[in-house]
Amino acid sequence: TKQCEQISDEFKFDCYPEDGATESRCKARGCCWVSRNKKLLNKDSVENSRVHHASLNVPYCFYPSGYGGYKFINITETPSGSISFLKRTFKSPYPGDVAVIRMDIRYETEQRLRIKIVDPLHSRFEPPYPEVPVMEHNLPTMDYQVQLDKTKTGFKVVRKSDSVAVFDAQDVGAFIFADQFLQLSAFLPSDYIYGLGEHRSTLLLSTHWQRFTMFNHDHVPEENTNLYGSHPFYLVMEKSEKSHGVFLLNSNAMEVILQPAPAITFRTVGGLLDFFIFLGPSPQNVIQQYTEVIGRPYMPPYWGLGFHLCRFGYNSLNNTREVWMRTREAGIPLDVQWNDLDYMNNSNDFTYDREKFKYLPEFVEELHELGMHYILLIDPGVSGSEKPGTYPPYDEGLQMDIFIKNTSGQPFVGKVWNRVSTVWPDFTHPRTVDYWLRQLKRLHQEVPFDGAWIDMNEPSNFLSGSTKGCPDNNLEHPPYFPAGVNGGRLFYNTLCMSSTQYAGRHYDIHNLYGFTEAIVTSFVMTEIREKRPFVISRSTFAGHGLYAGHWSGDISSSWYDMKKTIPQLLNFNLFGIPLMGADICGFNRNTTAALCQRWSQLGAFYPFSRNHNTDDGIPQDPVALGPAVVQSARKSLLVRYSLLPYLYTLFWRAHVHGDTVVRPLFFEFPSDVHTYSIDEQFLWGSALMIVPVLEEDKTEVSAYLPHALWYDFYTLAVVPGSGTQHTLSAPLDTIPLLIRGGSIIPTQAPNMTTTESRKNDFELLIAPDKDGRATGSLYWDDGDSLNTYADRRYNFLNFTLAKSHLTGSTIWWEYSAMPVLDKVTVLGIQKPVKSVFVNQASKPFSYHTMNKFMKVENLKLRLNNSFSIHWI
Ligand code: GLC
Repeated sequence: TKQCEQISDEFKFDCYPEDGATESRCKARGCCWVSRNKKLLNKDSVENSRVHHASLNVPYCFYPSGYGGYKFINITETPSGSISFLKRTFKSPYPGDVAVIRMDIRYETEQRLRIKIVDPLHSRFEPPYPEVPVMEHNLPTMDYQVQLDKTKTGFKVVRKSDSVAVFDAQDVGAFIFADQFLQLSAFLPSDYIYGLGEHRSTLLLSTHWQRFTMFNHDHVPEENTNLYGSHPFYLVMEKSEKSHGVFLLNSNAMEVILQPAPAITFRTVGGLLDFFIFLGPSPQNVIQQYTEVIGRPYMPPYWGLGFHLCRFGYNSLNNTREVWMRTREAGIPLDVQWNDLDYMNNSNDFTYDREKFKYLPEFVEELHELGMHYILLIDPGVSGSEKPGTYPPYDEGLQMDIFIKNTSGQPFVGKVWNRVSTVWPDFTHPRTVDYWLRQLKRLHQEVPFDGAWIDMNEPSNFLSGSTKGCPDNNLEHPPYFPAGVNGGRLFYNTLCMSSTQYAGRHYDIHNLYGFTEAIVTSFVMTEIREKRPFVISRSTFAGHGLYAGHWSGDISSSWYDMKKTIPQLLNFNLFGIPLMGADICGFNRNTTAALCQRWSQLGAFYPFSRNHNTDDGIPQDPVALGPAVVQSARKSLLVRYSLLPYLYTLFWRAHVHGDTVVRPLFFEFPSDVHTYSIDEQFLWGSALMIVPVLEEDKTEVSAYLPHALWYDFYTLAVVPGSGTQHTLSAPLDTIPLLIRGGSIIPTQAPNMTTTESRKNDFELLIAPDKDGRATGSLYWDDGDSLNTYADRRYNFLNFTLAKSHLTGSTIWWEYSAMPVLDKVTVLGIQKPVKSVFVNQASKPFSYHTMNKFMKVENLKLRLNNSFSIHWI
């Protein structure tokens, strides 16, 4: 007891995470019990101070120090790490705890190591996706060192250069490896921790007894609940401004606890403990290293970066067409028209309503003729209740035997939108690729859609299990139930955990359903169109960005929800899924003109920019909401379209180097702790800061300007206040945008579609830093064909400014249809310019004395040759 009293609150690791802890049950586990002083109790625990509930706070029942769990039997150094065996030191309360475990430590790169803990005698489930690289080699040097101490449980990973323990899992809490309960805790070097998706929270996570549950689930985004996707990855900013990241490759239902020590606890109900640790040292490096393991984001088609319009409940082609027309007539750039569930016949996949959507094929052709694109919704659940012989998607699925099965070997039956019953294709089954290809192809032959919106793939089920619920077994009712799982049961509004798939039990691969659907859909779309796939999925898992994008699901039309889309957006960039957006103006409930006006501005800066809403809300396309919304949508989307060459180049960087497209301020200013919690402003790459207005009736917004030169995007003048919180003016039709000194941004004049805007001449926006320097680049290809980068059918240019000398260098030139460079705007030129020379020849120019910028126009420079511009 004395030893128990000495453990201070933040170091208490929960020994009884399930409901119903009492002193005697706790002590039976060999743990400490200290129920807290009444005054300190929160409302929950006051109700019953003798029985402790699983709501999170300082645990009453906690492990005494040195509790351990496993002891080393031996440690063998290998050329690329070590292999050790450990023996259990106590019997855990969970069945099937493994007596001897093996820990393989592999030094994979200078900055990356993998620590895999397995049962050496029995093979256990390992996720088939993402496919991680297997490395076996001898590294000359590493940035890290792993400390193993035979007298202690676990391991400690230390950064060599400054001796910081990035992951200290040595004698922390209790290390448990039971069949359906695996747990490991570690001390963290700082409490600046990010990631652990998919959740609604602030960008900077709180370490005050927070639980992050990962179990894919169809639930309106709210705090403290499991949502559509799972990303067991976090990034930490250390006190030294260095950064590291940790990924737990495990697809089982999982919870991660953060506590103030600061410390982290991983608890999962199956699989292995398979950690990847990335040593950065910059946050950008961490994401590069993480995406090297899970897969780099794919290159989306250029048109996919245009504006998308959708809603649930257009209910007819006439109405779809009318909204589409009025948006174009209002001069709002628009690339892609969508249809939701209501285009289908009886909500059945691969059909369309031949009355209300009679001329859908013709409409899609018309869009194509205008250089526009069309996307439709596909749900994974296939109707199981149509008459045999009338609905091939069901009949063929049965024949091919690719539906997920129940414990009796029959297709598992639940219900989604379909009339009576629904079955689900098993996307881990090799034959499903052919099945899905057939279905999508058959529909595509009639309606030549360009992209797929895959929804409800958590998978969501309107029943919990099948009509009869689920069998009573330890998969449906595991010995430990992750308390944060919404609905109180794993099979709540989804399939039974004991249903079976090709790759294993649904219990183990539930979190991979949407991801595997995205993999297959991306492949199938590529086969059909022979162009780049555009797939947007609601459910995701680590590695998804290699195949598809994501949107944040069924958020509400509220100011709060709008604000919360920013941390979501930033997080998905950390997860390697830059093609991310949220329903502009909100999905559920009715939006308002004031909200939609500001949201249209913010949404113009979502990498995936789509206005979409529910079938029981008012129409919310810009025109429906009136002139103020039209004006804002138009103005901000014109800016977006002008910046697309820059955005596209950022996607290329993500694809090739693993950089984020949208990023938090701290990625660019890691030495400024003030930026660590900012999630109401964000950056596109390193050059553009977006400062949306997130409150009603405001025409000013307060922004933090990290140390740099900042220029106003609209006036091109320097904005004062670097290093401070600064008020920016934000008239209702304007979203403040700042260009960071040191950047060169390639742009094009906008048009009503990207197909048109891509043909316009290029321009360069040059923003010098305080030393008069700036850099930038441009990646360009045809924007839609496959593998342009791998096959080297692209152009790449670097731009450099040094004082009054600009150079453009053509690094690679294999795509001839590239517009010329016609205009250059240089900001921050203090003294009036006397002459400008382009490749030595004198050229006319204009200089703005007030705002101190210079423009040189009508350049008509072919970019296949390097060029130089200088001025005196
Ligand atoms: C889901 C989607 C939503 C869609 C609706 C109907 O709720 O998240 O975007 O409109 O289903 O298909």
